[in-house]
Amino acid sequence: MSTPTSTRQWVLSNKPTSLPVLSGPNPTFHLESAPLPPLGTDQVLLKTLFLSNDPAQRGWIDANILPERLYIPPVQLGEAMRAYGVALVVESTAQALPKGAYVVAGTKWSEYRVLDASECQEIKEVEGVGLTQYLGALGLTGLTAWYGLVEVVKASAEDGTVVVSGAAGATGSMVVQIAKKMLGVKRVVGIAGTEEKCRWVEGLGADVCLNYKSKGFKEELVKATDGFVEVYFDNVGGEILDLMLTRMKRFGRVAACGTISGYNTDEPVGLRNYLEVIMNRVEIKGFVVIDYLPKAREARERFLKAVKEGKLVVGENETVVDTAFEDIPKTWLKLFEGGNTGKLVTKLT
Ligand SMILES: NC(=O)c1ccc[n+]([C@@H]2O[C@H](COP(=O)([O-])OP(=O)(O)OC[C@H]3O[C@@H](n4cnc5c(N)ncnc54)[C@H](OP(=O)(O)O)[C@@H]3O)[C@@H](O)[C@H]2O)c1
Repeated sequence: MSTPTSTRQWVLSNKPTSLPVLSGPNPTFHLESAPLPPLGTDQVLLKTLFLSNDPAQRGWIDANILPERLYIPPVQLGEAMRAYGVALVVESTAQALPKGAYVVAGTKWSEYRVLDASECQEIKEVEGVGLTQYLGALGLTGLTAWYGLVEVVKASAEDGTVVVSGAAGATGSMVVQIAKKMLGVKRVVGIAGTEEKCRWVEGLGADVCLNYKSKGFKEELVKATDGFVEVYFDNVGGEILDLMLTRMKRFGRVAACGTISGYNTDEPVGLRNYLEVIMNRVEIKGFVVIDYLPKAREARERFLKAVKEGKLVVGENETVVDTAFEDIPKTWLKLFEGGNTGKLVTKLT
């Protein structure tokens, strides 16, 4: 194969206030071709193989979030959409990262990208762990679950019950397993969007998982949290968070991880039960996983050990979608339709 000199990439053309649109007069993204620079010293040419799909990407392009209130610079109009991916090094001037190596890097929604080798994290192959898991269980979502539980709400075997929403998603499915099997929390209650997902979450170790779209959800949640709960790991915000505020024990702790129920609307649900926070001295602590990246190696080593000991399932908690380059945004939008069980990964075909 001759070295490519240009790449196709998906570029941000309109910042959304609601669900991103893929067609019509004002689509959120458009596809274009851009030249690739020649390799400088200690650089690599990457070919993107897999893309991580993250709800956070929605925040990076939102029209209503002020740049100074976001935790990283927003994606600019005309810029290739930011994304993490697993890529193959196809050319290299970096001794430390030769041609043929696999890396996790900021590939963007781009077929090829030239990056400094120092911006790439090489994947050292480990038996039983596939490349895609470096985007999910052993990637940022796994780290989010670990640090959210261990450092943000300090969950431990002392805790009677941990409830987690988005339990069948990338982060939630790791929260369930870490809480139950690595930290020894007595009871784990999951919340997810279908019966099938709920049974899958129970298979991962949750004592019970409740379908928030079922008619009896509220009553079932009250029953499942009889005696109230020490920890709530919130991936969704909105109605479920509001309800969970009424189920917290006195001095309970909430890990405010995400609020996906509100990402595609400019009128997210407000909290009617806020008084519960005061009356019951509930601690709600927001966090962003990038603050914990300097410690990532420690958590990954724990995960690899847990995989070997059979305490952590990483092979099955992903939905890998074969995707033509033209359909990258379409696969990403599956996140907001509940189209994934475990980590949603795009496999470029
Ligand atoms: N703070 C951080 O550093 C950090 C890092 C990573 C992720 N996050 C946050 O954590 C959450 C989960 O992220 P993830 O990457 O693990 O994604 P994910 O859970 O794998 O995928 C999204 C899932 O969210 C659920 N969902 C979609 N719309 C919903 C709605 N309106 N109400 C309730 N649930 C809805 C769907 O599952 P159902 O079928 O169950 O509805 C969907 O499958 C997101 O809010 C994300 O922003 C935060």
